[in-house]
Amino acid sequence: MKHIHSYYSPNNLYNNIIKGLNNLGKDLSKVTLGDLQPVDEFHIRGDMATKELIKLANFTPNMNILDVGCGVGGSTRRLSHETGCHVTGIDLSDEYIDAAERLTQLLNMQDRVKFNAASALDLPFEDNTFDGAWSIQMNMNVEDKLGWLQEIYRVLKPGARAVLYEVCGNKNTPIYFPVPWAQDSSMNFLIPQEPFRDVITSAGFKVEVWNEKTDLAQHAFARMKKPEGDSALPELGLHMLIGNDFKVKSYNMRRNLDDERISLIETLVIK
Ligand SMILES: C[S@@+](CC[C@H](N)C(=O)[O-])C[C@H]1O[C@@H](n2cnc3c(N)ncnc32)[C@H](O)[C@@H]1O
Repeated sequence: MKHIHSYYSPNNLYNNIIKGLNNLGKDLSKVTLGDLQPVDEFHIRGDMATKELIKLANFTPNMNILDVGCGVGGSTRRLSHETGCHVTGIDLSDEYIDAAERLTQLLNMQDRVKFNAASALDLPFEDNTFDGAWSIQMNMNVEDKLGWLQEIYRVLKPGARAVLYEVCGNKNTPIYFPVPWAQDSSMNFLIPQEPFRDVITSAGFKVEVWNEKTDLAQHAFARMKKPEGDSALPELGLHMLIGNDFKVKSYNMRRNLDDERISLIETLVIK
């Protein structure tokens, strides 16, 4: 797990985001969720997908929700903002959690949105703690998928809902590297949809909804071209989280989707 931790550990992340906001002429006392969107929702289709997941989850105000593998907390904050839930995010990366906490303070959301640096395989919470959970695009880095899902199951109250929005394998292998979650095959643990669904049920969950999202992912990456030379990077962007080869990684997403090497699903499951 160490190399995964160091992959998601950029230096000075929060200060670089602040620098980007300043360069874009943003007034730091009035920063919005939308201003941070280019850098804080690290998954396919960004805030559009998050809004669909919020609808699917149907969490109600004041529920206590867990966001497993929350990154720098963009979806954690959006979930709380749009539903009035209390949301706790956990992530393996200390640097992401540091940025998540400070960005949440910048937006003055710290009363409802909290973070912990922790592994999804060893959640620092008692059994039956949360009214709901979600996990957005982190299974790709998790070899022990049963352990991850059993931990979510353990900390949920009986009858609670969880939403997963996850990249899975597809008909063809191997995938092209690097991709946004892995520099090479040593960090990649994709499995096809069917076995993924089997692990979810083995962890104890009942699958209520299973939506195929691969077409939407394909549209999202359809215009990605092979990068040539050193083109400029935006002031705020996902390259700040995973490095300046972000454009190559995005281009490989397109190739992996077009060649049916990866797929994308969202699912609603019940404890
Ligand atoms: C592609 S990012 C998605 C982040 C966030 N869910 C979002 O959508 O913005 C994957 C995240 O999973 C986290 N992660 C990977 N393995 C983990 C583990 N075993 N426990 C906790 N977090 C993990 C990484 O640190 C990274 O922040």
